[in-house]
Amino acid sequence: MSRSLLLLPGDGIGPETMAEVEALIDLLNREAGAGFTVERGLVGGAALDAHGLPISEADMAKALAADAVLFGAVGGPQWDGVPYEKRPEAGLLRLRKDLELFANLRPAICYPALAEASSLKRELVDGLDILIVRELTGGVYFGEPKEILDLGNGQKRGIDTQVYDTFEIERIARVAFELARTRRGRVTSMEKRNVMKSGVLWNEVVTQTGRDYPDVALDHMLADAGGMQLVRAPKQFDVIVTDNLFGDMLSDIAAMLTGSLGMLPSASLGRPDETTGRRRAMYEPVHGSAPDIAGKGIANPIAMIASFAMCLRYSFAMIREAEALEAAVAEVLESGTRTGDIMAPGCRQVGTTEMGAAVLKAFEAKLAG
Ligand code: NAD
Ligand code: IPM
Ligand code: MN
Repeated sequence: MSRSLLLLPGDGIGPETMAEVEALIDLLNREAGAGFTVERGLVGGAALDAHGLPISEADMAKALAADAVLFGAVGGPQWDGVPYEKRPEAGLLRLRKDLELFANLRPAICYPALAEASSLKRELVDGLDILIVRELTGGVYFGEPKEILDLGNGQKRGIDTQVYDTFEIERIARVAFELARTRRGRVTSMEKRNVMKSGVLWNEVVTQTGRDYPDVALDHMLADAGGMQLVRAPKQFDVIVTDNLFGDMLSDIAAMLTGSLGMLPSASLGRPDETTGRRRAMYEPVHGSAPDIAGKGIANPIAMIASFAMCLRYSFAMIREAEALEAAVAEVLESGTRTGDIMAPGCRQVGTTEMGAAVLKAFEAKLAG
């Protein structure tokens, strides 16, 4: 069996954390006959420096052909001055759009060993397990017009457009309802119907779609209140479904509940092909290129590793391996091995490669056992 992966490590800490995943891929090929074939490409500032574009056409073609893409991170201050169309982040947005990865799954799980690293009190986050389902190919990220107009009177006007069509809302709602069925059966939809027309439509379509899932409990929250509830009492949530921009912000908030941005993985999924069942997918940590710590070997690789676990689960149905990898991460955290971002008194502080090696060792033992 052949399983094709495209690795796009990107910028900053991207290549450092991706290296730890490459070791896991090698292990799965060696010990479990996983048959992964690996291609590599450039994205973000790295691609811009090499080809003058944040992703080359050749690498886009590789991404379209791969069974799954693993994405590190893009961006950094050295590319601050480049034209808007060429900025490193544009490479990421093009991948999401051209691969039609409309469903971004961002789980926020608080490992018991990390409850102290959260910015909230232990009892509020201990055992936390929520899933943010973020719409990823629509809304204000892509709506037209999107431009800066020169008004000619010394004034300029910046315009972004929030647009959602029924089908876009319905398909992301279905993903949320289906996933809720495999969890605790609750969906909270977040929008701002009190000020946004797209919020009114969002609310209507999610409510309508919910009628097909009578076994799932649906409620609605205004997105600002939802942010407040996420830090007040996060355990009230099971699945949160929301638009592209609210999902971006709410998932960074959720990340800190779990201890660190360096812990939060994500899966970006397309629609399953009607004949082959194959579904385009990209797996990326929620965090960025972390320019402040890049090159120091201290980044936490767990978000990238956990993104690979999601890849095993959602792209290859390698459930046993995915669970073993997640259990390996939990065990390493339990043992008190910590990168700086999740360091706690009495724990042992390690760098990126030591953390990666500790997870690899625990994973290897679980695969063998
Ligand atoms: P960031 O996520 O890169 O960093 C925010 C803070 O979290 C920093 O202090 C950083 O050191 C810390 N952090 C992030 N990941 C960590 C990890 N794995 N281990 C330890 N600490 C970690 O966000 P930012 O600083 O706002 O953005 C930096 C650049 O990254 C920008 O160019 C931004 O556009 C880009 N960005 C890219 C992505 C992506 O590629 N998916 C996501 C977010 C931001
Ligand atoms: C994320 C990031 C991206 C986003 C940026 C880098 C384009 O913040 O994946 O959360 O805004 O979606
Ligand atoms: Mn973000």
